[in-house]
Amino acid sequence: MKIKQDPGKSLISKKSLLLITLALLLVLVAHLPSQGNEQNGQIIYVGSLACRDCHPEEYANFITYAKKSTSFQSIEKQMRHLTPDEIKQCYPCHTTGYGQPGGFISLEETPHLKNAGCEVCHGPGAEHARTADPETIIGNMGKKDCEVCHISERVKAFKYKPLIHGGAH
Ligand code: HEC
Ligand code: HEC
Ligand code: HEC
Ligand code: HEC
Repeated sequence: MKIKQDPGKSLISKKSLLLITLALLLVLVAHLPSQGNEQNGQIIYVGSLACRDCHPEEYANFITYAKKSTSFQSIEKQMRHLTPDEIKQCYPCHTTGYGQPGGFISLEETPHLKNAGCEVCHGPGAEHARTADPETIIGNMGKKDCEVCHISERVKAFKYKPLIHGGAH
């Protein structure tokens, strides 16, 4: 006797194949966060909000007092006088990590990095935010690190010592 293929059975096997594929995808996605802290082998930026839960005091002071925490507004204020190319020239100083791996790209793609946040001073923090290991974040910085943005033309008298805490927390 000829055994007919049961069309119902093959349908079920297709379904289970789909389920297995979905399960595999889920496993993959579940593993992403632990690897998502790097891009091309370099630590990426996560934005100031990611620091809040573990450093509530620094976060609150920063949001309340530091102009950096609203530095994108300074661009927006002048936007209508600027060409798109000129606007991009503000990004290296007024946003977080522009032009660097996992840094600010655009308002649409990376809204969490639009202001100059904790990481402009402490460096990209994805690895530290995941591990809470103090070895993975810059704890101490110097005048040189500020002068990347606080260049002489912009700030005639940038006095480092009294200001080291002024722009932070
Ligand atoms: C899951 C918790 C956690 C998150 C999220 C976190 N940190 Fe930390 N951080 C710690 C712990 C724990 C220490 C070590 C104890 C301490 O100094 O408070 C630390 C220490 C630090 C230090 C001091 C490092 C040193 O050399 O002593 C800095 C600076 C810092 N964190 C900045 C940040 C920034 C910026 C972010 C956000 C990008 C962040 N942290 C996110 C837990 C966290
Ligand atoms: C990625 C660029 C960048 C770096 C690095 C940087 N700053 Fe700033 N800082 C800014 C910008 C942009 C503003 C102005 C924000 C605005 O008003 O829009 C600012 C503002 C300030 C102010 C003005 C007062 C206030 O309330 O914020 C102080 C003080 C300051 N920064 C100190 C520092 C110090 C100290 C360092 C180094 C430890 C530093 N900054 C590193 C970009 C930077
Ligand atoms: C080389 C880094 C750098 C670039 C590029 C840059 N800024 Fe700034 N900007 C700063 C710093 C640093 C300050 C803070 C000066 C201070 O308070 O001492 C600042 C301050 C400002 C302020 C004054 C905010 C206030 O409350 O006084 C405005 C507005 C501003 N920037 C707009 C812009 C715009 C628009 C662009 C792009 C066309 C731009 N900046 C490009 C570093 C930069
Ligand atoms: C303008 C640069 C700057 C910015 C922006 C900044 N910090 Fe800091 N931060 C510093 C400096 C400088 C120190 C070291 C202070 C010292 O050596 O006494 C420090 C120290 C710390 C420490 C160690 C403990 C302490 O308070 O001394 C933590 C934690 C920290 N910062 C978290 C943050 C977080 C979270 C943010 C954002 C919400 C932030 N920082 C934004 C400059 C900055």
